[in-house]
Amino acid sequence: MAEKLRLGVNIDHVATLRNARGGAVPDPLRAAAIAEAAGADGITAHLREDRRHMRDADIDALMEALNVPLNFEMAATDEMQAIALRHKPHAVCVVPEKREERTTEGGLEVAREENKLAGFIAPLREAGSRVSIFIAADQRQIEAAHRIGAEVIELHTGTYCDAHAEGRFEERDDELKRLTDMAAFADDLGLEVHAGHGLTYGCVPPIAALPQIMELNIGHFLMGEALFLGLGPAIEKMRGIMDAARAGVAD
Ligand code: PXP
Repeated sequence: MAEKLRLGVNIDHVATLRNARGGAVPDPLRAAAIAEAAGADGITAHLREDRRHMRDADIDALMEALNVPLNFEMAATDEMQAIALRHKPHAVCVVPEKREERTTEGGLEVAREENKLAGFIAPLREAGSRVSIFIAADQRQIEAAHRIGAEVIELHTGTYCDAHAEGRFEERDDELKRLTDMAAFADDLGLEVHAGHGLTYGCVPPIAALPQIMELNIGHFLMGEALFLGLGPAIEKMRGIMDAARAGVAD
């Protein structure tokens, strides 16, 4: 049987809700503690340039309080590199970022920015963080991520999830095939493979079943489900669906 799949719970949108009123609640740190207790193997947080959800103080507090690893998502900017080097989180996931986007829309263009990114991630690795690169399921990008010295890639599952949600099943299955092939390709190169973006109870099983994928990072859907089920039970349900898919048991 494949190794146990890790679940990283992205708590950005607890901060989105907090910031909508400008106060201190709901507290992302409290969400992180509940996620840990519900079986999250790690906490993921994205400090955006515009600080639209997580703020610098949230990252400080998470580094202080977490008992599980922090996966710090950030753009490849000097400002973020300095913050990551100060905190030395367990993992840094480099993502593309555009001010006008609602969420991280695509994967990073590694192939075109190879030299710049190689120089960018080297100090992060030297500081002891595992560097992950968020990319589309594209062989060129995976080869480039490997060449620049990343240890991990995170495959963008957004296209697959959107096609599933919108009933475009042929496109969904084509994208699932790409994810399947590229997870195996990256694993053969020696990269650790993660995946995430847009995952729900409904579309997670085939991704969780891919034996090369070691970690899923899931946020927005879980926070929405938390409104109805409570955060702990929403995460436990995801964990159960992931584990069943991994074990080859139909949910
Ligand atoms: N992985 C990465 C690299 C992301 O940027 C995001 C979104 O911030 C996620 C996973 C989680 O996506 P979602 O919130 O749609 O579950």
